[in-house]
Amino acid sequence: MAPKVMLLGDSGVGKTCILMRFREGRFLAGNFISTVGVDFRTKVVSIDETKVKLQIWDTAGQERFRSVTHAYYRDAHALLLLYDVTNKTSFDNIRAWLGEIKEYAQDDVVIMLLGNKADCGSERAVRREEGERLAREYNVAFMETSAKSGQNVELAFMAVARELKYRQSGQRDTNKFSVQDYVREKQNGKSSQPFTQQQQCPQCNTN
Ligand code: GTP
Repeated sequence: MAPKVMLLGDSGVGKTCILMRFREGRFLAGNFISTVGVDFRTKVVSIDETKVKLQIWDTAGQERFRSVTHAYYRDAHALLLLYDVTNKTSFDNIRAWLGEIKEYAQDDVVIMLLGNKADCGSERAVRREEGERLAREYNVAFMETSAKSGQNVELAFMAVARELKYRQSGQRDTNKFSVQDYVREKQNGKSSQPFTQQQQCPQCNTN
């Protein structure tokens, strides 16, 4: 069964762009076209030489589509919850998103919080530490990403893909949220895995 990963978060935080960056390795600059309802794409990734086909669901952030997207939560194995580091409201709304996730998603769904648009140094409205603190409070993994530069995009998807593969094969205790350890390890550069896309953001000096 192909693991299902859902992208969630306010309209305009960059869900479609993150998916595009991961799937096609490019950034869609220019006109912002809001997603209508739900859209999905697949991508095959290799985890420890095993191929895993991810089903990635891109949802509309706009409030008017909320009842449509709720229907898809139940089947999701992992959720990438995005806010925009230049938009404080999108960060403040994360608590409400986590509330919806609690209500509609499976209890053991893998959640990762992503502070996107980390390339926008001068326009930053949410500090990295604030994201880290919120993630710690809810015991979810966290990283800052940029669909524009590619920072951490592959790492985010690969971390959840790895966790889901382990869970499916029964290799991992599902009560233990290991994505956090994995991300920490990767970000500290302790592993020899080749796929990290961490780049220093030249403006805000974070990674
Ligand atoms: P909805 O479909 O309405 O839910 O929005 P979305 O979350 O899918 O946002 P989308 O990916 O369409 O991006 C919205 C705008 O943000 C676009 O103009 C993108 O070019 C821009 N954007 C997305 N990601 C980044 C990023 O990492 N950096 C910068 N600078 N801009 C970004």
